[in-house]
Amino acid sequence: MSATAERPATRGFVGLPIDRVDGHAKVTGAARYAADAPIAAPLHATIVQATIACGRIIAIDERATRAVEGVVDVLTYHNATRIPALPFDFTAPSSEELAPLQSDEIKYDGQHVAAVIAETFEAARAGAALLRVEYESRAPELSPGGARTVEQPEQWFGSDAQPRRGDPERAFEAAGVRIDQTYTTPIENHNPLEPSATVAEWRDGELIVHDSTQWVRGTRAVLAKSFGLDEEKVRVIAPYLGGGFGCKGFFWPHPLIAAMAAKLTNRPVKLVLTREQMFTSCGYRSETRQRLRLGATRDGRLQAILHDVLGTSSRVGTFVETAGGVTAMLFDVPNIAVTHSIARLDVPTPTAMRAPGEAPGSFALGCALDELASACGIDPLDVLRRNHAAVDPSSGLPFSSKHLLACYERGAEAFGWSTRPQAPRAMRDGGELVGWGVATATYPALRSPAQARVVLGADGSVDVASATHDLGTGMYTILAQIAADELGVDPRAIRVRIGDSSFPIAPVAGGSMSSASVGPAVQDAARRAYREAIAIATSAGGSPLHGLGEDEIEACDGGLRSKREPSRAIAYGEIVRLGGSGAIEALGSAAPGDEGERLSFHSFGAQFVEVRYDEELARLRVSRALGVFDCGRILNAKTARSQMIGGIVWGIGMALMEETVRDPRAGAVVTNNFADYHVPVNADIAAIDVLFVEEPDLAFNPLGVRGIGEIGITGVAAAIANAVYHATGVRLRDLPIVPEKLLAAQAAV
Ligand code: MOS
Repeated sequence: MSATAERPATRGFVGLPIDRVDGHAKVTGAARYAADAPIAAPLHATIVQATIACGRIIAIDERATRAVEGVVDVLTYHNATRIPALPFDFTAPSSEELAPLQSDEIKYDGQHVAAVIAETFEAARAGAALLRVEYESRAPELSPGGARTVEQPEQWFGSDAQPRRGDPERAFEAAGVRIDQTYTTPIENHNPLEPSATVAEWRDGELIVHDSTQWVRGTRAVLAKSFGLDEEKVRVIAPYLGGGFGCKGFFWPHPLIAAMAAKLTNRPVKLVLTREQMFTSCGYRSETRQRLRLGATRDGRLQAILHDVLGTSSRVGTFVETAGGVTAMLFDVPNIAVTHSIARLDVPTPTAMRAPGEAPGSFALGCALDELASACGIDPLDVLRRNHAAVDPSSGLPFSSKHLLACYERGAEAFGWSTRPQAPRAMRDGGELVGWGVATATYPALRSPAQARVVLGADGSVDVASATHDLGTGMYTILAQIAADELGVDPRAIRVRIGDSSFPIAPVAGGSMSSASVGPAVQDAARRAYREAIAIATSAGGSPLHGLGEDEIEACDGGLRSKREPSRAIAYGEIVRLGGSGAIEALGSAAPGDEGERLSFHSFGAQFVEVRYDEELARLRVSRALGVFDCGRILNAKTARSQMIGGIVWGIGMALMEETVRDPRAGAVVTNNFADYHVPVNADIAAIDVLFVEEPDLAFNPLGVRGIGEIGITGVAAAIANAVYHATGVRLRDLPIVPEKLLAAQAAV
């Protein structure tokens, strides 16, 4: 859709379904991703990884590798830069405490043990294949069930990891209806189209790194700390990302290896993780085992929820998949006990993956509520409605803005829910069983301090800069829309520059917080630039607006004009020239205040799904999905819709296909490719629709936006599992729901 066709007279770009401003650059190949960094003649590094899960290196034979023509050097723990331990903290957020290539110790299969550096990618690969590494291996611990070390973290990301209220055990025992089931979700990997990549270059003692990262400032902080440099001596650049979903959020070891290799060879070095390496070296979603006990009245009112979550972490880093994180908040329940445990294993380190915690947690809780509905003989949507929480029961605070009931209503109406028969196996179409399922979507609204700069140039240019990121989400576009509305400039005429640690500060592109954090900073910067332009235009002698007051002026068509006499107008470029300082430059900032002490900020939604199951072929398909979301104001109707469709597609993958499998004795990932790790393709996806209950959340920030990156996947797997039950009468509590599990369960009935 063309922006101008839709365009109101002056402002009003925010919200419109404007095409991505970076779309042309992307489809024409002009957009440069990390590995495309315009650096002349870089060396290529290829990583060699451990093939044991626990033990140590006893010998490295480099002779065959070094004999390959073009191989320049081999980086191992013998010659790597000594780097201090990197304990996780939010100022320098490294996923692994152990810096790479520091000793002979092996903590997981897939750990980096060497990098072969060569003049060409081919030589580096050939050399890596010839490197002989000998190990002394010990039996690894790989199963969370039998782990020797199980920890119960008190807190995770500043939240209580073991929340409790009331007397849940007693309330559960006393309840008229009890559900006690265990749900399991497998290891899942992020699999962005663009693999993680780094091009590192040392220039006069400064380190310049092009890195595919969701956090340029976080990456800069870890690199600076690692090499003992001032942060100003490190620059991290990431203008475009081909997806991230959390696997490029915290710091992983490979940029350090690239930087060490560049230091060793005194040349720029390019390092790209292979698809196989992406399965071990930039995190994954931990498997979860979730026991859920629901106690309720016979009419489906929850009295108690006990939610016990077991996940895993590695020996070298900690991540807690907080699948019970929303349990205490989501429904109006007086008695709650949530526990999170992590088993320490000889495995790679898990990390945040789209809706970390909420995605597997909403599966278990969403299924358990459906089981409660069956047990009570009540429509599952009615059970959700009956347990709706009007205030946040975990804190007692009112929600800033909550329209979940409207999501249920609008979704039910659009989906046709009222015609759903309650009994399973009651809907058929031709040879197929048809089932409908519903579940609740939720994700917290987060926000961090951010800054942005807006520069109006004498040539009429408008520049916006911030150290934020666009993972493919539409950040370039929405920032242009926000600045456009403040300045009265077409968003496509605005140049947005992001993904550079030297730009004004912005947080990690994680936690769905970029729009709510950086958007208001851009708004503030643009307002400041606008006011400065007015000050010049009303005071400069040659200006047609000379002598007018600020409230007599409005922005329009790339400049200012008189509200009463629109022909009295002046373009920004001319204002800048009148001002005589070469440019109007404004730094804006925005940060959360103390509103979190009075209000609870969350987004919500309802996921409706239809599945079809052909019993003769054991073929299960999601034939229809509808997500209705309450995420505050929507900044761009097109990119927002895309985000949600992407989340629902991933939810379908989570429910039906995705599973990372490790060799249960040795620990190696055996599904480290797209033949064995199944993700949905076009043929797997039928009709998906998305609706927004659009209520701006102005208590959260001046734009009223809450962020939409992660909520789309939440609830989808539960809605699908519930629809599978409705279609087949079979309850599957172990993801993914693959045909062999359905067949086995049906055979057992
Ligand atoms: Mo997201 S999993 O916070 O990148």
